[in-house]
Amino acid sequence: MTAIFTKLGLSEFPLLAAPLAGVSDAPFRMMCTRIGGADLAYVEMLSAVAILYKNKRTWEMMKLHPLEDKVGVQVTGRSADEVARAVELLGQQPFATIDINMGCPVRKVVNSGSGCAILKDPQRVYDTVYRSKQVTDKPLSAKIRLGWDENSLNFLEVGQALQEAGADWVTVHGRRRNSTYQDPVDLEKIGLLKRSLRIPVLGNGNLFTQEDGKFMRQATQVDGGMVSRGAMGNPWAFKAMRQAEPFHLSLEEWHQGVQQHLAWQLELYSDQPRSAICMRKHMLWYLKGWPDAKRMRERSTEASTIQDMQALVEEYYFLLREQGVEHRFERDPDGPHQERFTWKPVLDRSVDEDVFFEEFAYRAAAEAVI
Ligand SMILES: Cc1cc2nc3c(=O)[nH]c(=O)nc-3n(C[C@H](O)[C@H](O)[C@H](O)COP(=O)(O)O)c2cc1C
Repeated sequence: MTAIFTKLGLSEFPLLAAPLAGVSDAPFRMMCTRIGGADLAYVEMLSAVAILYKNKRTWEMMKLHPLEDKVGVQVTGRSADEVARAVELLGQQPFATIDINMGCPVRKVVNSGSGCAILKDPQRVYDTVYRSKQVTDKPLSAKIRLGWDENSLNFLEVGQALQEAGADWVTVHGRRRNSTYQDPVDLEKIGLLKRSLRIPVLGNGNLFTQEDGKFMRQATQVDGGMVSRGAMGNPWAFKAMRQAEPFHLSLEEWHQGVQQHLAWQLELYSDQPRSAICMRKHMLWYLKGWPDAKRMRERSTEASTIQDMQALVEEYYFLLREQGVEHRFERDPDGPHQERFTWKPVLDRSVDEDVFFEEFAYRAAAEAVI
């Protein structure tokens, strides 16, 4: 157990809920931490310039629910100076820890010199963290990828720069900037980074199942994990990865959890159509692995209020109970069962998943970059 995680009150092998643009709002974060057992959850990536110019939407995204205690925030920016000035402001907010995004691959973000663009210049990596460390006492980490492309896998150099600059830990997504989600996560390189550094290293990429968590831990010896798509519709992933015995999500737990998410959504965002639209994607994800999910997905896409969704979940729950369904299938029964670390979850079958992820990933963050 590393000192910094003890100081933050995290568990022996911390499992963090990743910042997910367009997903990591307060209800989702609370699902991960309070229901699913994540050690800490992040607010989605924020743009330093939007923080500095007091962009209203960005500052609203930073608001925490009174029930939230361990929340991290992530920022990216166009220069070391810009990031450090934003970190100074973030340090005055009630966040447990601050992360600097050096891994966002979205073209608009990268073209502005933010996200993955920072990786290209290890000196800038160093300056960004070094200057940020001067202006906050909060723990400071960075999230990186292995490199820009196959010819510039500079994660070891970047890791050294982060360590020398005073980063408290590094989270590494085991893919390159030019990888797709189809590409496997490179556990060997994650392990190499872990062995090359004194500061803790967290592994990220394709952590969906209980086995994935164990496998990454054993294969890389990382100090913890960050769960991303694996938590979408499945905040119980943290609990599963933590326990030794096989995990099966019961119908009762699912029912209570989904209703809790809807209740927090209603509390925070009211029953406006926008709130229901935001919730639809979660409903699609939550239905994964349950019988007759396709029909329910279609119906939840038509639901225009949170109350409609609550009624739908009740109806579905009683139907499944009558049918004697007790547990969720741990993988989609119709899905392609690929090997670990090339496997990806199945979402709404009417949507091409890769198109969905490529387009949806970071959309909100990209919009916020000025
Ligand atoms: C919808 C979506 C939004 C994301 N937003 C962020 C973000 O704001 N910050 C970040 O560091 N990574 C973000 N990511 C990347 C993930 O955190 C993660 O690094 C990546 O998906 C690999 O992990 P996975 O294979 O377990 O999903 C996002 C990914 C998705 C799918």
